[in-house]
Amino acid sequence: IGKNLTVLDSVTSTNDYLKILGANGCESGTLVASREQTKGKGRLGRVWQTKKDDGIAFSFLLRPDLAPNEITGITPLAGLAVCKAIRDYTGIDCKIKWPNDIITGHKKLVGILTELSAEFSAVEYTITGIGINVEHTQFPQEIAHKATSIFLETGKHIDRNEFLAVVIEYLERELLTNDLRLTEKALKEYTSLCATIGRNVSFFRNSQQLNGVAEKIDNNGELVVKLEDGTLHTVNSGEVTVQGI
Ligand code: BTN
Repeated sequence: IGKNLTVLDSVTSTNDYLKILGANGCESGTLVASREQTKGKGRLGRVWQTKKDDGIAFSFLLRPDLAPNEITGITPLAGLAVCKAIRDYTGIDCKIKWPNDIITGHKKLVGILTELSAEFSAVEYTITGIGINVEHTQFPQEIAHKATSIFLETGKHIDRNEFLAVVIEYLERELLTNDLRLTEKALKEYTSLCATIGRNVSFFRNSQQLNGVAEKIDNNGELVVKLEDGTLHTVNSGEVTVQGI
């Protein structure tokens, strides 16, 4: 990952930029980073702001030989890799908030957005975009209570180029040694760093709100929730709210 590397001064979104390279046949592992994003995207249609030099924003493209339902490992493995890289490099006691935020305490440090291009039920490529809050001292008012940065947590300025290289190393190791799958070993590690397990969560089924406790993550990376009546429900990302974090 990152052997074919482009670093931009400014771009709309590194995910969108990489989509164009992907459509033009760039090799698996191609990575695009930018010092600024003017139209950064978050999950569920949200906005992700990257102002000049306040964070790390990058995306990498993979061409896995897998069907769309087999690529569920990529995002959790990426989350696990980034979480471990931050813990080792900065000493911050960060955790994974299922499915793919990295948080410390109640506040978010990293967001991950994976998009895929599939044709005829085969995956053409996946693009995983990662945004890390590094130098931020302030956030937009709506998220100020739930966002933080490496500087705010440690009081230290890190070398963003050096840290990006470390993150890429961790990503490569986690994704490649596990063959892009959430193996037993990776799942165990993911679970031990996951802040969501044991928390009260709520989700919607048939337009009814259900409340329960997050029991575990299954090997598709989905969250298994135990309701008060003891029944187990599998929920995928996008439909669940975690209480307290
Ligand atoms: C989220 O938490 O909602 C996901 C945020 C993902 C942000 C990253 S920054 C690099 C890449 N480019 C984008 O436009 N989004 C991702």
